[in-house]
Amino acid sequence: MPNVISGFSKLTKSEKIEWLLDSYFTDKETARQLVKQYWNTDEKLQKLHDEFIENTITNYYLPLGVAPNFLINDTLHTIPMAIEESSVVAAASKAAKFWFDRGGFKAKVISTTKIGQVHFTYNGDYEKLYTFFEIVKPKLVSDTSDITRNMKRRGGGILDIELRNKSKDLQNYYQLHATFETLDAMGANFINSCLEQFATTFKTEAEEKLDGDLNIVMSILSNYVPNCLVRAEVSCKVEDLKSKDISNPELFVQKFKQAVNIAEIEPFRAVTHNKGIMNGIDAVVLATGNDFRAVEAGVHAYASRNGKYSSLTHCSIDNNIFKFWIEIPLALGTVGGLTSLHPLVKFSLEMLEKPTAKDLMKIVAVAGLAQNFGALKSLTTTGIQEGHMKMHLMNILNQFEATVEEKDQIVEHFKTNVVTHSAVVEAIENLRN
Ligand code: MEV
Repeated sequence: MPNVISGFSKLTKSEKIEWLLDSYFTDKETARQLVKQYWNTDEKLQKLHDEFIENTITNYYLPLGVAPNFLINDTLHTIPMAIEESSVVAAASKAAKFWFDRGGFKAKVISTTKIGQVHFTYNGDYEKLYTFFEIVKPKLVSDTSDITRNMKRRGGGILDIELRNKSKDLQNYYQLHATFETLDAMGANFINSCLEQFATTFKTEAEEKLDGDLNIVMSILSNYVPNCLVRAEVSCKVEDLKSKDISNPELFVQKFKQAVNIAEIEPFRAVTHNKGIMNGIDAVVLATGNDFRAVEAGVHAYASRNGKYSSLTHCSIDNNIFKFWIEIPLALGTVGGLTSLHPLVKFSLEMLEKPTAKDLMKIVAVAGLAQNFGALKSLTTTGIQEGHMKMHLMNILNQFEATVEEKDQIVEHFKTNVVTHSAVVEAIENLRN
């Protein structure tokens, strides 16, 4: 166990690495080389990455893959995905091509409102608080004019501020519940700056004009954005689903719908079902420099909005039409934050033809729907392991440091054999003997 260290953040990068090596590693030279091997040779680029966070010692790579052939509202997209799970990009590409041949995806943004709250306590009379709030509300807005000027010029800004009485749930607890339109920005900084100004104005005014004790607890945006909603769907005639993997479309749609219905009523299944959706969503969110933790938190809260965790996707079969859709809240940005800093984020956004936040919401929702379609299609037909293990094969071969020739031969072998970890190990051993 190392000694507690103070002032760590003030050490140079090399000093930090040396401290780590001394504290935790027996083979210091190998560890040092590994850390340095992942540094970018372009010092300027490395410095940019170093400065994203505190105490950077090196880079942690994730593959950036692309899934082509996504037809969304009649426009073709190649979607960038940053993810480590071997089957995700393959499944997305397969689903994209499958639906390309059946009219593609339709997507629409339903709403774009975001929320922030000033949480405060007040020990006086609610009627007085309400009257005070109504008087002070225009000043809350006008005091933020420096912060909101640019956003307002572009058509966004503060939409409303409400006083919410939560004192029945928690003694003396109230909120300023504000709604915002942040256009192409994810808006976290904008919203938080507005909220902190609301809090300052509210507290100052209360000290002069309100009887009783009013104290600000905190001011922060909410990552729950049920009114920043997007919907994506696919549909086709049942018989049009016939394909290499779907020999009996009628049976397929029945089982597929059952799988969705199970996720709608059974939380244990819904969590895994939605995890598969997030495989697609997070990968695009990450590739486009957005905050996947915010998206995850908001999406799962939405999945529980009716009091029970449930599926994010739904399915219907009416008049011989199979329809499959997703509706999710997504607070995304295509300007600000990492979008103008990380070179690969800029690359991804250019590949997506410089989308607006609304365009990106549609693309991300489609990626989630496609991923879920691919997962349910496999689960209800061949099972998931066939595809998964085929993709995992390369990981196992890399663990055994297989050569290119070995890889070629073993991949060929497993085109006609079931991939399991032990079967791959056996094949490597046989080849090497
Ligand atoms: C694995 O990452 C995702 C799945 O488990 C999703 C699902 O079960 O629907 C395959």
